[in-house]
Amino acid sequence: MKESLERIELLAKSELERIRDSKELEALRIKFLGKKGELTAIMKSMATLSAEERPAIGQLANRVRADIEEAITSRAEELKAAAAEQRFKDERLDVTLPGKAPKLGRLHPLDAVMHEIEDIFIGMGFDIASGPEVEYDYYNFEALNLPPDHPARDTQDTFYISDKVLLRTQTSPVQIRVMEQKKPPIRIVAPGRVYRSDAVDATHSPLFHQIEGLVVDKGITMGDLVGTLDMLMKRLYGEECRIRLRPHHFPFTEPSAEVDMVCFNCGGKGCSMCKGEGYVELLGSGMVHPKVLEKCGIDPEVYSGFAFGLGLERLVMRKYGITDLRLLYENDLRFLGQF
Ligand code: DAH
Repeated sequence: MKESLERIELLAKSELERIRDSKELEALRIKFLGKKGELTAIMKSMATLSAEERPAIGQLANRVRADIEEAITSRAEELKAAAAEQRFKDERLDVTLPGKAPKLGRLHPLDAVMHEIEDIFIGMGFDIASGPEVEYDYYNFEALNLPPDHPARDTQDTFYISDKVLLRTQTSPVQIRVMEQKKPPIRIVAPGRVYRSDAVDATHSPLFHQIEGLVVDKGITMGDLVGTLDMLMKRLYGEECRIRLRPHHFPFTEPSAEVDMVCFNCGGKGCSMCKGEGYVELLGSGMVHPKVLEKCGIDPEVYSGFAFGLGLERLVMRKYGITDLRLLYENDLRFLGQF
């Protein structure tokens, strides 16, 4: 029995060495010290010993038990310390490492230039106006002096919701909505999305943006139009930016003009970018047609006004030297990150 006790002690200690975690340790404790454990079994069989043998063996058994208990406790402490050490290593934070800066967003170039233009007009005393993108035929065409079957409608084919409702092809209907609501003096710009049923290519998109301008007051002349647009372009592109007017036709202005800006590339001499013209087309404009004023209840004998409609994409492409319109809509961050 003495040998068994000594063997158990040796065995328990050598097994303890190999224990890796507290679960294994608990299993070992049960195996050696538990109610059905090896030591308990020996203790129980002590009843079969003679009275002389019993005290010595009893003493030995108690010592073995105490030794194993102590060894388990100290192993438990070792394991605890090792686990803490491991956690410390795993969760270690090197505060001297350079931080990861969060990526900052920025405005899309279309929005950035739109805001820039809005700011320039606000500086000249304009208000910002807006109108619906799903618009009545009446506002988009008819009130702008484009009755049904007017041939100019063909150049602005759009998406129809019904016979009377469509996706607006231009921001010009906002002119009508503003003049219906407000009496002169009126000074507004109306930026927004417009739609045309065009196939997508490098210079066309079924969705694009325009900025409409409208000024109505007593004594407004073509000179005010030229001065305003000249100021806009000089603010956008610098003092050397020049514009010129070409006669044109729009049903809702009389007279009408297309406004060109001097070609960036050649400064007006003529090059491949401006096809030898020295100027590139910028926008449509004119003096508000008396019939349009009348439709909105404004007396054309008393008031006059000018209006213009500017394509935002073209302006942005020119400003940044972008040659394919599609890049502005693909939302590729490698492209947008450059601006
Ligand atoms: N709405 C016209 C277009 O999309 C542009 C335009 C021309 C707007 C003359 C105007 C204007 O306000 O007076 O082609």
